[in-house]
Amino acid sequence: MRDFSPPPYRIKMVEPIRRIPWKEREKALLKAHNNLFLLPSEAVYIDLLTDSGTGAMSHFQWAALMQGDESYAGSRSFYRLEQTVKNITGYGYVIPVHQGRGAEQVLLPLLVKHPGMYFISNMHFDTTRAHVELAGAGALDCVIPECHDVQSYHPFKGNMDLCACRSRIEGHKAENIAGIIMTLTNNSAGGQPVSMENLKQVSELAKEFGIPLIMDGARFAENAAFIKMREEAYAEFSIREIARKMFDLCDIFLMSAKKDGLVNIGGLIAIGDDEALFGQCRVRTVAYEGFPTYGGLAGRDMEAMAVGLEESLELDYLTHRLDQVRYLAEPLRRAGIPLQYPPGGHAVFIDCKEICAHIPYDRFPAQSFCNALYLESGVRTVEVGSLLLGRDPQSGENLESPFEWMRLSIPRRTYTYAHLDYVTEAVLAVYEKRESLRGLCFEYEPPVLRHFTAKLKYV
Ligand code: F0G
Repeated sequence: MRDFSPPPYRIKMVEPIRRIPWKEREKALLKAHNNLFLLPSEAVYIDLLTDSGTGAMSHFQWAALMQGDESYAGSRSFYRLEQTVKNITGYGYVIPVHQGRGAEQVLLPLLVKHPGMYFISNMHFDTTRAHVELAGAGALDCVIPECHDVQSYHPFKGNMDLCACRSRIEGHKAENIAGIIMTLTNNSAGGQPVSMENLKQVSELAKEFGIPLIMDGARFAENAAFIKMREEAYAEFSIREIARKMFDLCDIFLMSAKKDGLVNIGGLIAIGDDEALFGQCRVRTVAYEGFPTYGGLAGRDMEAMAVGLEESLELDYLTHRLDQVRYLAEPLRRAGIPLQYPPGGHAVFIDCKEICAHIPYDRFPAQSFCNALYLESGVRTVEVGSLLLGRDPQSGENLESPFEWMRLSIPRRTYTYAHLDYVTEAVLAVYEKRESLRGLCFEYEPPVLRHFTAKLKYV
């Protein structure tokens, strides 16, 4: 048997991509003020910026697009999506939204009842943290310490540290905890999965203190696949059954469907049985997203999502998906490059803290590596480190991230093993000249979510 499973699909349509010459890449990067988010995609050869909305849809999804019902209210496509989500989650109430942060914007403020409240998470994703803070609450991360030990194996590095979580609840008092958010998989920790056992214990903790448990489940299917592969008690269960058990343990599901929904745009709020909360969400949805039977999406988007959610649960697809990530990680690890190990579900996270030890955290070592990789190869990646983390709201100081990641995210069903070989060679080439990389500082710094639009220059 091969070590890496072949793709369970073949190519029916192609999108040409081009690698522009080095000189043009240099010009493009300068024009983008050394921020890869500001590059036009045509200047990029292989785009590993994100796995969000960048995957390829199946021919079943393209066929479903034609069946979109574009009625403003009561669209047939909504009912189809609603039924699909109910079947998968077992939840009673479903609202589509335009993407994950739309779900955060609608739901999170409703849980913040008074000033001085907190959300506790294994790790808040950056938009989740932003919406927690915009709602006037604080965001506390309690991932297990093993997660920070980049090089050593742990099957579920995304897990919640239960002791830390309990002591945060007791320290701040349960009535000041607005919700517990389990990010599955744990994106900021390296796409690391959470075990069923851990989710169960978090669920018990939440129940003990009467705190709602929210699943930020952008990558719930990938998490379920890891549970099947690594948690013995679940080896014989189907992905659908495992996912259902995960949903049974939570109260609310927020989803950026641009990941495991296998669509280019879309999101979801699903609520187990809290009808009053559902009513409040509908009101906010009307104001911010659209009428609650479309929530900012076209009917055809909802059709594609209904099909995509089902396809994301297929074991062959998930096996190949996780294999692609592993395929990219293994040769890099063999070459001595420090990366989050074992690799997660959607991306390889390379730790540039150690690689670029000569660049201090507030000169953004990972951004420097990302830029060099782009120049070398036309491959676009993303910094997940101190640039993304931002400043302490009280002191205004740059916060130091525990990790300085360069994230190489793999879009779903999009690139082949041959593309990944090219990426590996490029990363190795930049790694060879790591000592020549220089740090960056701001030419312009936006007040929130600064990494998206910041302008940077070399120091
Ligand atoms: N939650 C998680 C865990 C995410 O990874 C994301 C997005 C969101 C929420 C927000 O969803 O983008 O649809 O509004 N992550 C993308 C990424 C952007 O590149 O990891 P969104």
